[in-house]
Amino acid sequence: MYKLSETFNKLESLLCAEQEAEYGDQNELVPFYYNIDKKIKLFQGDALSILKKIPDSCIDMIFADPPYFGNQSGLTIKRNDGHADTFDTQKAQWAYSKSLSYQFEFHYAWLKEAQRILKQGSTVWITGTYHSIGVINVVLQDLGFKILNDIILYKKNAPPNFKGSCFRAVTETMLWAKKNVNGKTKFNYKYMKELNGGVQMKNIWEYWAEKNPFRHPATKQPIILEYAILAGSNEGDLIVDPFAGSGTTGFVAQELNRKCIMIELDPDYCQLIKKRIEGEYGEYRRKTKIKRDL
Ligand SMILES: C[S@@+](CC[C@H](N)C(=O)[O-])C[C@H]1O[C@@H](n2cnc3c(N)ncnc32)[C@H](O)[C@@H]1O
Repeated sequence: MYKLSETFNKLESLLCAEQEAEYGDQNELVPFYYNIDKKIKLFQGDALSILKKIPDSCIDMIFADPPYFGNQSGLTIKRNDGHADTFDTQKAQWAYSKSLSYQFEFHYAWLKEAQRILKQGSTVWITGTYHSIGVINVVLQDLGFKILNDIILYKKNAPPNFKGSCFRAVTETMLWAKKNVNGKTKFNYKYMKELNGGVQMKNIWEYWAEKNPFRHPATKQPIILEYAILAGSNEGDLIVDPFAGSGTTGFVAQELNRKCIMIELDPDYCQLIKKRIEGEYGEYRRKTKIKRDL
């Protein structure tokens, strides 16, 4: 019988959830990068096929920032919101527009696996654009997740709408959902309240985007990960990020003493994640602390 607590240590040798199945060498999972001290594992490849190799009900929390499928190919967008220089959508092919049916199929496939690997009561946090998050919301409900909150991420220094064609977009929606309707939600409610000066935290998280010394077009601000990880997991827990990008989830998780498995398709981004975890762009400094001496 497979022991759930060993999932993290055994992931290289873990062939599939179905323990009785026989697999050849080509099915072995070899991490692109494994940092034993920081308890970070990074797999280069397609999220869906790697998620399928994780056994049932063994993950404490998932953070996912999946492809948006909403950009017009070939646009070069100038940034002034903390990201490096420009966002050339020619390079970010994962962000290109896709048909609605493709999007539903994609999100259905990975979310089904996400639901299967989450422990009872555990949660998934998903960010997206105002287009993609609508599709994800429907898929979550159809799969039987319990949506707990839509968290509004309010970027105080968001760029203007350059063309003046619509309002300036300053928010992003993050959905927070539980595996299903059963069991107690894994939520450090009291701790988050304490962190918020004794007042219940709202579903609007305000932040200032900071500049990054590396290039990835969609890096999440670490403060968002910090809140999500502190709210939805405990020290020693195992977190999965299936669309790791520049590795913000692992970068923050290691500082908060959580184990983290990341998956990223693009080998260049995997290199970036490795460098980031090894501190080449600076160490992560926790931003929130409870002031015990008030
Ligand atoms: C929105 S970005 C994630 C950014 C990340 N949250 C961060 O802070 O850097 C989405 C990432 O998913 C990756 N991706 C796209 N399709 C994928 C797939 N099928 N499997 C794994 N990663 C994928 C892209 O290469 C991209 O880096």
